Amino acid sequence: MAPLIDIIAGARPNFMKIASIIKALERDAADVLAYRLIHTGQHYDARMSDDFFRQLGIPAPHINFDVGSGSQAAQTAAIMIRYEALLQEAPSQLCLVVGDVTSTMACAITAQKLGVPVAHVEAGIRSGDWTMPEEINRMVTDSITNWFFTTSDGANANLARAGVTDDRIFFVGNTMIDTLVANLDRLAPPAFWDDLALVPQNYFVLTLHRPTNVDSNASLAAMLAAVAAATRGLPVIFPVHPRTAKTIRELGELPTSLHLVEPQAYLEFNYLVRNAKAVITDSGGVTEEATVMGVPCMTLRNSTERPETVSIGTNELLGTDPAALAGALDRLFSGAWRKGGIPPLWDGRAAGRIVAALKPLLCA
Ligand code: UD1
Repeated sequence: MAPLIDIIAGARPNFMKIASIIKALERDAADVLAYRLIHTGQHYDARMSDDFFRQLGIPAPHINFDVGSGSQAAQTAAIMIRYEALLQEAPSQLCLVVGDVTSTMACAITAQKLGVPVAHVEAGIRSGDWTMPEEINRMVTDSITNWFFTTSDGANANLARAGVTDDRIFFVGNTMIDTLVANLDRLAPPAFWDDLALVPQNYFVLTLHRPTNVDSNASLAAMLAAVAAATRGLPVIFPVHPRTAKTIRELGELPTSLHLVEPQAYLEFNYLVRNAKAVITDSGGVTEEATVMGVPCMTLRNSTERPETVSIGTNELLGTDPAALAGALDRLFSGAWRKGGIPPLWDGRAAGRIVAALKPLLCA
């Protein structure tokens, strides 16, 4: 029987990363490797999950743990209990996890404890900021990973420093960018594009969901006011993550140039980014997509686990002090924003390299 790979997906940023891996498995290894797609249910709203499966042609999950929301520990525990039961009943030969969400770490721990090897896609990146749950998830996952699939030289260096030997590190590129490259021609304007009379390069996209930015009413209100002021009255399209929506409901009136919309599906969101004057965000993945599309990107964080988006790409770290926005946008409006380039191997072919590496590892 062909070795069975569990592909784990739990939260929104996982879905674009697994889409290209599944396509490459079906294209290059259908006869030698089998897979079982497991959705943990960490994200469950249609707009956070189902829309991505539909638009990206991801097959329906074979199994859904339906864990839903909860504290970090509650979510981790619920995923581990369900995955452990599944592996005991129907073992697999590899647990493939992507990114840095709670589901990534929970499944890696469970698999390794049952003797199922772990492959981590997007391994080795580090922000150095232990206040972010994602950083803990990355560190724990990488400490029990067998095979590391990396997106950057920086990730390779971080892993080497931690004592990981070269034969376990595969520098393959970026599977999230595979999905972007494959879908560039399919990007489509959202329904509100005409209603708001949006014009390319004459509006901004804003995303905010980090607890440090959105869990306090006062700091979120100050940040939104600063964004509106610095963007000089141009429309700011703000797809609101469910976590952020909770705080926003408690704020008073917001500046009128901010257009709050539902979380967007993949093709609409990246259409908005591709045509924006700039993106203002606290996401990590969005900084990668903006870099590849050559769109100026301002990150409202003090650190990044993706330094190549700054050193090579279009991204700049502004920190979390709203006062930094005015100067950055002055530079943008004066035409001084760096053009940027594309990091090595972010070429749309990362998933094919992963499958090519997995075949000899699993079919020996
Ligand atoms: C998670 C990831 C983060 C990623 C983000 C993208 C972790 C630790 N964090 O953060 O890295 O950038 O996803 O979206 O895994 N909720 C809904 N509907 C949903 C999902 C969540 O309403 O479909 C609400 C819940 O009330 C929940 C809150 O949003 O409490 C936050 O969701 P959670 O999965 O805990 O983490 P995110 O902030 O989404």
